[in-house]
Amino acid sequence: MARQKISFICAQCGTTHTRWQGKCDGCGEWNTLAEEQAGGGVGGGHQRAPKKGRPVELVPLDGEQEQAPRIQTGIDELDRVTGGGFVRGSALLLGGDPGIGKSTLLMQAAAALARRKHRVIYVSGEEATGQVRLRAHRLGAADSEVMLAAETNVENILATLADGPRPDFVILDSVQTLWTDSVESAPGTVTQVRASASAMIRYAKQSGAAIVLVGHVTKDGQIAGPRVVEHMVDGVLYFEGDGGQAYRILRTVKNRFGATDEIGVFAMGDRGLAEVPNPSELFLGERKGNTPGAAVFAGMEGSRPLLVEIQALVAPSPLGTPRRSVIGWDSGRLSMILAVLEAHCGVRFSQHDVYLNVAGGYRISEPAADMAAAAALVSSLAGLALPADCVYFGEISLSGAVRPVGHSVQRLKEARKLGFERAVLPAGTEEIGNQALRLSQPETLVDLVASIAGS
Ligand code: TYD
Ligand code: MG
Repeated sequence: MARQKISFICAQCGTTHTRWQGKCDGCGEWNTLAEEQAGGGVGGGHQRAPKKGRPVELVPLDGEQEQAPRIQTGIDELDRVTGGGFVRGSALLLGGDPGIGKSTLLMQAAAALARRKHRVIYVSGEEATGQVRLRAHRLGAADSEVMLAAETNVENILATLADGPRPDFVILDSVQTLWTDSVESAPGTVTQVRASASAMIRYAKQSGAAIVLVGHVTKDGQIAGPRVVEHMVDGVLYFEGDGGQAYRILRTVKNRFGATDEIGVFAMGDRGLAEVPNPSELFLGERKGNTPGAAVFAGMEGSRPLLVEIQALVAPSPLGTPRRSVIGWDSGRLSMILAVLEAHCGVRFSQHDVYLNVAGGYRISEPAADMAAAAALVSSLAGLALPADCVYFGEISLSGAVRPVGHSVQRLKEARKLGFERAVLPAGTEEIGNQALRLSQPETLVDLVASIAGS
């Protein structure tokens, strides 16, 4: 008999290694490799004589167009992130840290869909039905016609789903608890999680139900993380937030049927998640007067403008190598802005520790935040507060030039709506519209620094 092949699979990213090693070649994480038996599951398999293929139907590309049929929850923050509702016959992964509110969000979505006369099944592998009921009660969803099951075996789940009317929406909470008889690995291993996910995805495609797989972000290598199934599903959403704060951000990472830069904002309360239709107010909520080092960035998240405060603290450093610390922004981007400020504007940070923080635990990924970050840094170093009624946006290039960014009109409108009077944006921004804001348009970072020093 052939010897069973053993491989070592990273629980974070799923990269397969032939030998054990401390660090994963794929994602660079330490101690995430676990020994698994190859074969049986997806991509593996015992050597069998190949069966004779059967021809499939070929269809022309230019055929009848099918709109992705969607089911909407009516929860706007959720529907926007999915690109207009869950798509029938598709599989979505909802990832996030344990305790962030994934089960809560999905129970609310399930209840909303059930009220709209969709047939919804919630399969919990983590909690007993009693516990799920208790949560539903707390969410005011107990009266909705969601059907519950506490089960982890994929074959049993599939048999249950096949028995009775076809569901529209199925939640599997969580994918890490699922296991299928078709592979031998233990539940939670990469092979098992992938094989189980694959069986459920196949079910979604065949039945036309929309399914959601919940995946906990795992910290160690014992249990596979949600990333190992990302490539198999049609959409990936991550639910993020700071445990200490009430709000949560739902972010699209992958979407075969819509945009990937959308976010939904929720606040966790004692009766579940409430939508936050105007997140700018939330992120600017605690703004107090004029303090040096704070600049408001007029950002965009997908189709929505979002104002957030960028805070900088620049303080003389006792260390030979001063500290650079960033929360909510890219540290490489900070280094770049500091280098441009030093090289082109003669502003020196080499003797100073620099801390940069995006207020409210929010994370910025747009280069358009450069200008606000630079303004905050210069303001803190100089000890001069920026005008409290001013917003900033614009990208900074290595040459020190300030470059226009998209969606200027929307950014300015949002600022106006929230009571801001002034905006600093790049010269050469073409579309500005007729804004009732006082605009200042620097051409270079030198102009920006001069205007802060002169204010
Ligand atoms: P949960 O949805 O169980 O998280 P996950 O499925 O991502 O692990 O949410 C758990 C947390 O949310 C828990 O700390 C309690 C809190 N919570 C509320 O604050 N209000 C509520 O109405 C509910 C249901 C949960
Ligand atoms: Mg849960």
